[in-house]
Amino acid sequence: MRLAGVRALVTGGASGLGRAVVDHFVAEGARVTVFDRSEPGLAAVTAAHPGTVIGVQGDVRELAANRRAVADTLAAFDGLDVLVGNAGIWDYNRSLVNLPDDKIDAAFDEIMGVNVKGYLLAAKAALLALVASEGSMIFTVSNAGFYPDGGGTLYTASKHAAVGLIRQLAFECAPKVRVNGVAPGAINTDLRGPAALDMQDRSLGDVLTKDAMTGNLPIDRLPNPEDYTAAFVFLAAAGESGHATGSIINIDGGFAARGVSRVRGGDALANGD
Ligand SMILES: NC(=O)c1ccc[n+]([C@@H]2O[C@H](COP(=O)([O-])OP(=O)(O)OC[C@H]3O[C@@H](n4cnc5c(N)ncnc54)[C@H](O)[C@@H]3O)[C@@H](O)[C@H]2O)c1
Repeated sequence: MRLAGVRALVTGGASGLGRAVVDHFVAEGARVTVFDRSEPGLAAVTAAHPGTVIGVQGDVRELAANRRAVADTLAAFDGLDVLVGNAGIWDYNRSLVNLPDDKIDAAFDEIMGVNVKGYLLAAKAALLALVASEGSMIFTVSNAGFYPDGGGTLYTASKHAAVGLIRQLAFECAPKVRVNGVAPGAINTDLRGPAALDMQDRSLGDVLTKDAMTGNLPIDRLPNPEDYTAAFVFLAAAGESGHATGSIINIDGGFAARGVSRVRGGDALANGD
């Protein structure tokens, strides 16, 4: 059990990647608070892990709700060792030219509010508890934190901001609290869009097909949340990753390994060329 005794708080843990992280953490011995806005999602994850997982309903954009999630964790588990900031929304690749004048302010506020302020407020709420436990923070980034076209203008800016947040917090919180990230590529989830762009009912899983993924990346398949969770377990396990801070693990099918003339060179290996 790599996380025996670990007390974790996962934002956005009621669905998709966050839910898979919760399941993997519990399987490794952790107790987990899930902080999410989805009541049905919270009911499902707490029912799946009775006595091990508690749910806190709220919006990650509100400091008071983040503080409530931390307070409930301390009350239930008598401490907090790992914060996973993960709740996020996508912009369905909306480009600047296609952001309507009358929606751009609200769209910016909503995407930055969830994807950046949500992480900042979770860190703010959890910081002193993590100093006390000499714990760590892990934030979900994205290939969009490093490369264009994994989202539109707002999503890409928000995930680049998450990278900056990780690096600055790693500096500010050292040596007591480690701060790291995981940058996944595409994941088959229910990832939603901003209400400000009328995208709140869109689900990434409806558009992210195996065909859409084929041919774009060196590793050529449609991943599920479980393909990424081991990286979170590694970063949460102080005995394994204790020297890592300010680190971001990119697991994205090979964005950094795409060729200039071809996506991948290894196709030729089958022919012995
Ligand atoms: N799905 C992908 O292809 C992909 C790729 C790279 C990175 N990511 C990142 O992974 C993270 C998780 O996304 P996912 O794909 O699992 O999506 P998801 O929609 O399945 O899960 C996101 C969870 O966050 C919650 N949430 C959203 N806004 C919230 C708010 N304001 N307050 C509280 N909870 C809120 C949702 O209720 C949901 O349970 C996000 O940060 C996303 O940017 C996703």
